[in-house]
Order: sequence, then structure tokens, then C-alpha cells
Amino acid sequence: METHEWRPMAPKDLGAVLAIAAETHPSLQESRAVFEEKLRLHPAGCRALAADFGRGAVVGYFFSHPWYYGEIPDLNCLLGQVPALTQTYYLHDLALLPVARGGGHAGCAVRYANHHAHQLGYTKQALVSVNGSEAFWRRQGFEWTQIPELELKLPAYGQGARYMVRLTD
Ligand SMILES: CC(C)(COP(=O)(O)OP(=O)(O)OC[C@H]1O[C@@H](n2cnc3c(N)ncnc32)[C@H](O)[C@@H]1OP(=O)(O)O)[C@@H](O)C(=O)NCCC(=O)NCCS
Repeated sequence: METHEWRPMAPKDLGAVLAIAAETHPSLQESRAVFEEKLRLHPAGCRALAADFGRGAVVGYFFSHPWYYGEIPDLNCLLGQVPALTQTYYLHDLALLPVARGGGHAGCAVRYANHHAHQLGYTKQALVSVNGSEAFWRRQGFEWTQIPELELKLPAYGQGARYMVRLTD
């Protein structure tokens, strides 16, 4: 029986989060300090997918926070702060271990982000698709959006990385 469940991320989850990131994004690794800061700056946007109805091992994670439209954070760098005045909610990273995929959990995290963005009044959501995940994000309502200023920055996210945007429902 499927028992994975998303719950709020806690600092104690970061060891598992780093291990999942190393497995799913080996070439885009970010430091513990970078993850810790996201959790501190916008805890409501950070979620852990855990087995045993949210009490067991962490098998996936999700980081999101408010950000500026048409801008992307530098990878593996501290944000400093998240903007107070912006219309855009940014989905920084969503990753599941292979054993946890295909069960609708990633879609569930995206719906959570949409609901959260709606509640906070963010009219747009944005992300950078990596690892060939563009089709997944299209399925979630995001569209490739070309912003000339990003062309120099996107290659740091890997070949084929794309800035994608959707409107909040
Ligand atoms: C991308 C990722 C999170 C998707 O997880 P998942 O468990 O396969 O996704 P779900 O089971 O929740 O699928 C949700 C929906 O997206 C669809 N989907 C999943 N992967 C897809 C793909 N590659 N292309 C198109 N649609 C896809 C599913 O069919 C499902 O559609 P439905 O709503 O009609 O049933 C997962 O593959 C992953 O962790 N990859 C490695 C990390 C990564 O690249 N993350 C993206 C960072 S930008």
C-alpha cells in the first residue's frame, strides 16, 4: 500500500534532502547552507515527502519561495532574502527518489505550490526545468518563456534548461 505523504520540511530532514539531491541532480549540487537558508526564509514553501504517512524515511523534497519575475537565483548561492513585493512564486527544486516516482506525488507538490501561491496572492509561478523535465512541467501547466536576460545564466542549470511560467489558478 502507498504510504508516502508530503509534510512540512524540518532542519533534521536536510541530511536526507542532500542525499536525494546528490542522486537526482549530481551535476547541480547545492550545499546544506543553501538549503538551510531556503528553509529559514520561506519554511511554508519547503516540503518533505516521507514514507509511513509522513513519519518515515524522506524519499523526496520540494523547495519554493517568492522571487522576481524573469530572474533566477544563482545556483548554490545564498538568496540573502526573499522579496516582499513581487507577483511571482518560484519553484526552486522538486525531486523524488526513483522508488517514489510515478505515484502522483510530484503533481501533488505542484498543486500545493499553486494553492500556497494563490493564498499569498502571487499571480505567476516560475521555475527552471532541468534534467529533461520540461514535459513534466508542461503537464503541470508551465510554458517555456524566453527572456533574453536569462540566456547567459540558464546554461549553469545544465544543457536544455528552460525558464517556464504559469499563471496561478
Ligand atoms: C520530475 C519528477 C519530480 C516527476 O515525478 P513523478 O513521480 O514522475 O511525477 P507524478 O507521478 O506526480 O506525475 C504527475 C503527472 O506528470 C506526468 N509526468 C511525469 N513525468 C513526466 C514526463 N517526464 N513527461 C510528461 N509527463 C510526465 C505524469 O504522467 C502525471 O500525469 P497525470 O497528472 O496525467 O497523471 C521526477 O521524475 C524526479 O524527481 N526527477 C528527478 C529530479 C528532477 O529532474 N526534477 C525536476 C527539477 S526542475
